[in-house]
Amino acid sequence: MRIFSGIQPSGSMHIGNYLGAVRQWVDAQNPEAFYCIVDLHALTLQIDPADLREQTLDFLATLLAAGLDPEVCTLFIQSQVPYHAQMNWLLECVASYGELSRMTQFKDKAGRQEGYRVGLLTYPVLMAADILLYSADQVPVGDDQRQHLELTREIAERFNHRYGEVFTVPAGVQPRASARVMDLQEPTRKMSKSLASPLGLIYLNDDPSEIDKKIKKAVTDTDNEVRFDPAVKPGLSNLLEMFASFSGETPATVAQRYERYGDLKADLSALVIESLTPIQQRYRELRADVGALRELAARGAEKAADVAGPLYQRAAAAMGL
Ligand code: AMP
Ligand code: TRP
Repeated sequence: MRIFSGIQPSGSMHIGNYLGAVRQWVDAQNPEAFYCIVDLHALTLQIDPADLREQTLDFLATLLAAGLDPEVCTLFIQSQVPYHAQMNWLLECVASYGELSRMTQFKDKAGRQEGYRVGLLTYPVLMAADILLYSADQVPVGDDQRQHLELTREIAERFNHRYGEVFTVPAGVQPRASARVMDLQEPTRKMSKSLASPLGLIYLNDDPSEIDKKIKKAVTDTDNEVRFDPAVKPGLSNLLEMFASFSGETPATVAQRYERYGDLKADLSALVIESLTPIQQRYRELRADVGALRELAARGAEKAADVAGPLYQRAAAAMGL
């Protein structure tokens, strides 16, 4: 079972990324799993070059600290394997303008800025290239990437139909709980790096007092009944879901134990701090050795290129190049 997934090294990793994606990566890692820090994708929005360089290393160290083992899986940086950009072009000549302009995330992000980059439109094609280069069967992602994955399947099928069977058509896999962690201040909106409200996100590297403050101030409601009901009680349900995904229970089971919002928040805060502290400690050690991180990335890129190279050649040949 071949697995591929990616994360953008923009901003800092938050618990939406962790619960919605990265934890699944760790659970599913095996020699057939490829995990990628997608720095090319990060160029679709304004980002300072020096920040991008640092954040790429931050993300690498964070993924290792969260439990990815480069002896078990392949962990690499997208721009270090040139086939991604090359395959992107081939697939831009398979995807249509109409289907790209209909993507919800594109409409959402493009609507918020003037003169947005073409890359923002074509971004799902690059994502398709990432996935198809590794013949992935499964792609663990959060709920927000479902539409992009559907497009990847569409592109793969169209290519195979037009040029012969080259690509594996992948399936998405979503986590049991926390496929969509919501903003703590605006619980009807997903927790997102690009729309951060200062108290709405918990970052993986937040210190205990910040975590505690953000959870205590999380928006709930005034009817004071602890019950899992995302439609009616989005804020409280988000906290219950977060609790459940850290403790391995269901949100409804957690809800049964509590009568007061304050007690739930206090225990949730302790649980999040306890879960993140060991990751933060490992992160600090790993991040201090930049040489080791760079070496590890180079080895990952080599392993990735061994798989992506032949697939790229097959796709290019099938198209007549
Ligand atoms: P990104 O930060 O957009 O590169 O996302 C990296 C991964 O985290 C993707 O698989 C997303 O689906 C997932 N993700 C991002 N935000 C959330 C969220 N609020 N809840 C659950 N998963 C998320
Ligand atoms: N688009 C994804 C996101 O923003 C990141 C990503 C890029 C990705 N390429 C991928 C995820 C390939 C899964 C597989 O979250």
